[in-house]
Formats: sequence, structure tokens, C-alpha cells
Amino acid sequence: MEQKIIELVKNTKAKVNDIGSAKELNDLKVEVLGKSGELTLILRGLKDLSADERPVMGKIVNDARVELEAVIGEKFAQLEQKELNEKLLKEKIDISIDKKTPLGKLHPLNIIKRRAIDFFISMGFIVTESPEIETTYYNFDMLNIPPDHPARETQDTFFITDKILLTTQTSAGQIRTMEKIKPPIKMISPGRVFRSDEADATHTPCFHQMEGLVVDKGITMCDLKGILSSFAKHFFDANTTIRFRPSHFPFTEPSVEVDVSCVHCGGKGCNVCKGTGWIEILGAGMVNRRVLAGCGIDPDVYTGFAFGVGLDRITAIIHGINDARVPFEGDIRFLKQF
Ligand code: PHE
Repeated sequence: MEQKIIELVKNTKAKVNDIGSAKELNDLKVEVLGKSGELTLILRGLKDLSADERPVMGKIVNDARVELEAVIGEKFAQLEQKELNEKLLKEKIDISIDKKTPLGKLHPLNIIKRRAIDFFISMGFIVTESPEIETTYYNFDMLNIPPDHPARETQDTFFITDKILLTTQTSAGQIRTMEKIKPPIKMISPGRVFRSDEADATHTPCFHQMEGLVVDKGITMCDLKGILSSFAKHFFDANTTIRFRPSHFPFTEPSVEVDVSCVHCGGKGCNVCKGTGWIEILGAGMVNRRVLAGCGIDPDVYTGFAFGVGLDRITAIIHGINDARVPFEGDIRFLKQF
């Protein structure tokens, strides 16, 4: 019997050695160590032995079982590792492919736009958008610019029909907002606007503005000055100051042109501010009573202010871009610098 066991262990080990898959190994395990496996049968046969022989043979059978279990267990681990390696090899991804494609990034104008939006969101403003293809109703009529008003000419634009045009100012968004929501209103509306200007170092037929509108009870010009002053300090640097100059827009009364102290020379006068110490960045004013009334808001109860920032201009000032056309050209050498 002992010989039989030795043979069985030897043969099984040889078979284990040659086996190539976990399934075959499992079959072999059942064949030898399973309920009716060869070694189990030998174990059952022990009852026919004498009382002296039984413990001796019992130990031999048991040792054989322990040895075989160890050998099989080790082989299982090996096969598992082998299968895993094969799988990994098959599923390998070459992440180095395409590594030469450069990552895209934001256009400098969009970086500035997002910074401006972040500031106004932090002040509790909502962000709206209004169409680039607009009607004369929103772009002019409702902004107190009737058909014969000379302001239509200064904002000469691209007409699609008599009544449909490429929007000349984000101010159209004021009307669209006041038609939709009633005061209190605090909104900004960034957008692309168009005027039929010949492109030169200071003009492009397409540029970017961001409208702001606040309407509530008791809003005054102090509120306008406060918010624009904080904006300038946040945007340029903490020492930046602003000044209001009287101006005229049909949809605000009174109207102002707003300058910031020159961010390059701090107000002393340099070539960026053309020696004046100031740089104009936006138009603003108190919303005209007629505009409020046109949108169904009682001007005896509510007042408001509005402003329109030139985003291209701010971008140019911050980055020292001295030709308005360059940001529109898509030249990679320019864009790479931001
Ligand atoms: N829409 C004006 C422009 O394009 C700017 C402006 C906006 C002025 C809001 C006053 C209030 O020049």
C-alpha cells in the first residue's frame, strides 16, 4: 500500500507539472483528492488494516495528501499569474501614441471673460445670453433709439433684413431680461457684437462686450460707482481707481463714460494711456425711465443702472496687445503666449 501511495504522489506531481490550465488542474485535483479520488479510496481502505498498521499508514496517507495539496495549490497560483500576464499583455494600451498633439487652451479673451463673470457671480449677479442675430426692436427701439435717431448710424451694422441685424450691443440683453424677470434684477450678459467698421489697429467688425444691469428700489449712481470701483480693483490691481465722465446713451440718463487709472503707469502718463493717466473701459448710466416703462417696470418705484464693458479692450490693456486685429487672426504664435 505504501508503494501505491508513493507511486500516486509521484505520478500526480508529474501530471501537475505538465498541466497548462486551471481547469485541467482542478480535474486532476478531484481525481486524486476528491470524494471518490484515488487517495481518498486508499484512506477508506485503512479500515481493513490491523490496529498496528492503521496509524502508520494513516500518517503516510495524510502526509501524501498534505504534500499533494501544497503542490497543486502552488500550481494554481502559478497558472493564475500566467493567465493574468497574458490578459494584461493582450489589453495593453500604448498611451504614448498621439503624445505629440499639443493640448488646446483658452483664448486670452475667454480667460478675461471668465474672470469678469466670476467677479460678478461673486457679487450675486446672474448670467444671461442674448442672440447675436437680433431684431431692431430689441437692439434699438426698446432702448429708446427710434428709427430716425442718429445713434443708429454710429452703430451701423450688418442688416439681414430691414428688421433683423447682427446685434450691435449687448444692451439688447437688458430688454430681454426685463421682459422675463421683474425686479430685483442683477444680471450680466456677455456677448459678441458687430458693427460695420473697417478693421484697423483700433477697430474690428466683431468684438465682445459684457452688459450689466441692476434694477431695484432705491438704486442710485453710488451703487454703480461702488460696483465698478470694486470690479476695477479686482480686475487690475488694488490701487486702481475709476472716474466718471459725462456722456450720452439714449437708454441711460444720466450717462457716463468710465475710465480706470492706467494699469501700466499708475496714472502718471505713458504711451498706453497716451499720456493722460486714464484708460476708457466702459459706458454706463442710470437706466432711462422710458426703457423701464417700456418693459412694464414702474420708473416711479424702481430705478436701475446699466453698463457695457469692452472685453477686447480690457484684454488688450492687460496683455499689452497693441493691434485689435491680432486676437481674431488665430495665429498660433500669438495664442501660445497665454
Ligand atoms: N451699449 C453701449 C455701447 O455699446 C454701452 C452701454 C451699455 C452704455 C449700458 C450704457 C449702459 O457703447
